[in-house]
Amino acid sequence: MEFDPAASTHDPRTQSSFDVEHRIKRNQQYAQSPGSWMLKLESFAKYVPRQSLARFLARYEMFKLIENVQGSIVECGVQYGGGLMSFANISTICEPYNFQRRIIGFDTFTGFPEVSETDLAGDPQRKSEHLKVGGFAAPEAREDLDKWIELYDENRYLNHFPKVELVVGDFLQTCGPFIAENAHLVVSCLYLDFDLYAPTKLALETFLPRIPRGGLIVFDELNEAVFPGETVAALELDLIRTLKIRRFPFEPRMAYAIVGE
Ligand SMILES: C[S@@+](CC[C@H](N)C(=O)[O-])C[C@H]1O[C@@H](n2cnc3c(N)ncnc32)[C@H](O)[C@@H]1O
Repeated sequence: MEFDPAASTHDPRTQSSFDVEHRIKRNQQYAQSPGSWMLKLESFAKYVPRQSLARFLARYEMFKLIENVQGSIVECGVQYGGGLMSFANISTICEPYNFQRRIIGFDTFTGFPEVSETDLAGDPQRKSEHLKVGGFAAPEAREDLDKWIELYDENRYLNHFPKVELVVGDFLQTCGPFIAENAHLVVSCLYLDFDLYAPTKLALETFLPRIPRGGLIVFDELNEAVFPGETVAALELDLIRTLKIRRFPFEPRMAYAIVGE
């Protein structure tokens, strides 16, 4: 299949033409490489761009930080599910008997439901091309992800306990009913990747009181000019000043804070 840079999570504004050409080459070479899909998946490190591998490793490092913290992992913004299923697989590998930790993902799967003035404020040259209603839409990803969750479930212990849960729809609408049905929820890791101001602020207001000391808040777009809404939400809740916000030396986007530190 052809690689379409415009449909990619990566934004042309944060990538040079060399980066895009490199990814096109990688896509072509992947198609030409010998072996079945399964064989290639088993040799994934040969094919995966190092940037994606770095993001997987960062998620592993985050997981190690919360391994002994009670609570579920909540990912705000799922799209194709690479991040969500990284956490699911890492949890299954590292703690196969922890039936209490759920991996919960929120997304419309039809992209951004709305984009506020806060998201659009500032220099238009420094805004994402995805910053529009429907940005990052991946409607076909929803059903596909259900199938991959089924396969994931087939290959783990205690699979009579559900592990991954998708909450589909606009978070501004789904959040209230979700909390009403999940009064018990404790969150060990809140991964913020909605990219937008309003749902990020609501996620922080809703889940922060449910994170115990030692749990993590992860920001995917903090200090990111292309998507300013996440920083504005954190600023309005005084989190920049009050949290010790750290990063991994090998991954430029993700920033995290350990609650209570
Ligand atoms: C950058 S993508 C997430 C990428 C994903 N975390 C990963 O690791 O591949 C951002 C996602 O946030 C979702 N999103 C943004 N605002 C939303 C809202 N109000 N409700 C639900 N989903 C939303 C979009 O549909 C989009 O799929």
